[in-house]
Amino acid sequence: MNSISRTKEILTETEKFIRLHFESEGSGHDWWHIHRVRNLAVHIAEIENADLFIVELAALLHDLDDWKISGDKNLTQTRSWLKRFELSHEQIERVLVIIEEVSFKGAKVPTPTTTLEAAIVQDADRLDAIGAIGIARTFAYGGNKKRLLYHPDEKPQLHASFEEYQNTTASTISHFYEKLLLLKKRMNTKTAKEMAEKRHQFMETYLENFYAEWDGKI
Ligand code: NI
Repeated sequence: MNSISRTKEILTETEKFIRLHFESEGSGHDWWHIHRVRNLAVHIAEIENADLFIVELAALLHDLDDWKISGDKNLTQTRSWLKRFELSHEQIERVLVIIEEVSFKGAKVPTPTTTLEAAIVQDADRLDAIGAIGIARTFAYGGNKKRLLYHPDEKPQLHASFEEYQNTTASTISHFYEKLLLLKKRMNTKTAKEMAEKRHQFMETYLENFYAEWDGKI
């Protein structure tokens, strides 16, 4: 089998596995989140001339061992999935490093990436966390964690450590200030920075309307 059909087969198999695994996920990390992140990542990778296979494979697997979902720091499921295929040690490590670097860890916690491919998957995941989709996902996540929509007396916290960020119980509107509105400035690639503009603007408008409706002004 030539290498193009081999990589295509790996991606097809991985898509099938992930689609089944995330089919009924109810916190905004369902299959369609993965699907959108994969498409965004491939789109950015084409423009930025990155390794398309590594980007697509990492995007498909990026939430499999995520702390919000399974919380496995050793990426055990991802590792064992990748070992099923004839991938080199280097290819497996590149995918694992991307996944380790993808997550947001708090407003004051830097999340640098070490490769172009990691920068792209991080950007794609963050684009899906903002804008109209980001708003829908963040309320789905908040509901899943039994959080309030909003509390007028609550002040958003800019978390200085990953642990603080993980343990927050703040309302979903606070989460906009603790993460969503910060992501535009934390995009890595030029392509993602441009795409983030409109999504960011929409969230600003959304919040204006939310407060106006809360106060019965509109
Ligand atoms: Ni994700």
